[in-house]
Amino acid sequence: MPGNLIRAAVTGLGVYVPEKVITNDILEEMVDTSDEWIIERSGIRERHVVAEDEATSDMASIAAVRALADAGVEPEEVDLIIVATNTPDMPFPATACLVQERIGAKRAGAFDLAAGCTGFICAAAAGSQFIATGACRNVLVIGAECLSRITNWEDRNTCVLFGDAAGAVLLQPSLGESGILSFKLRSDGKGARLLYMPAGGSRRPATRETVENKEHYIHMNGREVFKFAVRAMGEAAEEALACAGLSAEDVDLFIPHQANVRIIDAAAKRLGLSPGKVFVNVDRYGNTSTASIPLALYEAVTAGAVKKGQNIVMVGFGAGLTWGAMVLRW
Ligand code: ACO
Repeated sequence: MPGNLIRAAVTGLGVYVPEKVITNDILEEMVDTSDEWIIERSGIRERHVVAEDEATSDMASIAAVRALADAGVEPEEVDLIIVATNTPDMPFPATACLVQERIGAKRAGAFDLAAGCTGFICAAAAGSQFIATGACRNVLVIGAECLSRITNWEDRNTCVLFGDAAGAVLLQPSLGESGILSFKLRSDGKGARLLYMPAGGSRRPATRETVENKEHYIHMNGREVFKFAVRAMGEAAEEALACAGLSAEDVDLFIPHQANVRIIDAAAKRLGLSPGKVFVNVDRYGNTSTASIPLALYEAVTAGAVKKGQNIVMVGFGAGLTWGAMVLRW
């Protein structure tokens, strides 16, 4: 952290995963696929999806309350809420405002941030800057996603991959050596149409035609996204580590965006990381987009896989195209 800026530390963690589980066996009944194909190509065994009356802000609020309880901070003490999501409750207002009201964070500012599945890394980076300058002391950063609502459940190319969840962290000024050491954010809009929702925005507002053409669902060129992801994850991790004056040998735990176990394995191999240093839970949740990294961080911490003083590298990639990495000392 340059100059006299304040380092932001993660002092609270909370998650929410909806109850309903869709196993690969259930998907076999819905589309022309097999448990074997899904596991071999993606490593995913099951994913969770929201109930009919649940939306992104519901999951985000529960995760946020849990993160605050973990940190011992009252909702009234929160200065800022940033929600990273691709599936807001509605185009506007921001889902962060709905969370602010729901959890009773009466003094907090609130905004959403959209950066594909890299959203959580971007939001944590943004939040850390409010801490760094002294503008805020308590920043809630949330990744929350209801991808089941924009998944075409008749498209086997995509419906086997995604799931719903929320994860939240509380950022506060670090009192010691722990905290966010560095981050690197990147994007390449040339790839915007490799992974996108064609309609529902200002270019193609919703019409009967867009609905009939299924343009309000995730459209993805899986092969191209795969190639990009392997390269981007390794590159981003190396760049963020270099910013922190570290190298891959200094990594104690690698927490990649959980999209596909083959992408994770390839990125870890590129960085020369042994499997024991790589956190994987994509088998149980699928790709939960902005929620995947905080959910993985939460599980790693609660499983005792992270010790004080260890270096964690979190890496995301996704629609945009976007990619980015963050080095966090626990
Ligand atoms: N079941 C059975 N067969 C399938 C399925 C399925 N669910 N899905 C695709 N296939 C078929 C394809 O139709 C294709 O058949 P064809 O050769 O006759 O055309 C064949 O399987 C192979 O397809 P590939 O696309 O080559 O399979 P691949 O090994 O690349 O795996 C996958 C596909 C899993 C989608 C992979 O490309 C991938 O994970 N890509 C990255 C996707 C990703 O991470 N997206 C999220 C980004 S993050 C965000 O912002 C949301």
